[in-house]
Amino acid sequence: MPDDVPTQIHFRPERAGDESVIGDVVERAFRERRVADLVAALRASPDWIDGLSFVAEHGDGLVGHILFSRSLLDAPRRLVDVLVLSPVSVTPVHQGRGIGSALIQYGLAQAAGRDEPLVFLEGSPTFYRRFGFEPAGPLGFRRPSLRIPEPAFQVIRQRSYEPWMTGTLVYSRVFWDLDCVGLREDDVAGAAPGT
Ligand SMILES: CC(C)(COP(=O)(O)OP(=O)(O)OC[C@H]1O[C@@H](n2cnc3c(N)ncnc32)[C@H](O)[C@@H]1OP(=O)(O)O)[C@@H](O)C(=O)NCCC(=O)NCCS
Repeated sequence: MPDDVPTQIHFRPERAGDESVIGDVVERAFRERRVADLVAALRASPDWIDGLSFVAEHGDGLVGHILFSRSLLDAPRRLVDVLVLSPVSVTPVHQGRGIGSALIQYGLAQAAGRDEPLVFLEGSPTFYRRFGFEPAGPLGFRRPSLRIPEPAFQVIRQRSYEPWMTGTLVYSRVFWDLDCVGLREDDVAGAAPGT
């Protein structure tokens, strides 16, 4: 855990009863309900993976959340189950103190033990590069939407990755249903880099 993370922050998997508080954390972080609705819709979908939703706990309350869910890579050989890291949320008053970084490191450490060979995300290269994410395009991966800026499309290759695994990332249907892929024209001006 980075030195600047308050020592009273505890990281753990989501458990039953956390659902609505997680929704509040996500809504406060993104200042809109849509991304919280995305988390709820993923939870109800076949692309939810038990044990891959994590929270940062502070006292009795939750101050952060990250989620990995299942998407597909349309590789030449076959479809491959992959992980997408989205969204990442820290409540505004707790931002900038290392909680988001520590939560991402914690979540990636849990994901590293799994069989999915790849973890994709769209987000700021400056922020996510430090966790081991690499630009996905040069490794042979195609964005699920041209509205995702190429530098924002990033990947971590896990233990079971093999070089034949190239192709197009096909987001879970839930991301499309909630219109949570890339940036729309109206979002571009004041966008936070990545959802
Ligand atoms: C992005 C977020 C999760 C980071 O959590 P955090 O606890 O504030 O992050 P940390 O304190 O660990 O790290 C701070 C770093 O993140 C950077 N950062 C903060 N918000 C960022 C954002 N939206 N995009 C890119 N970088 C961001 C800061 O500039 C800082 O960088 P530095 O270490 O180079 O100075 C949090 O700010 C947040 O919830 N933002 C709103 C929701 C969002 O945009 N989520 C990200 C995409 S899913």
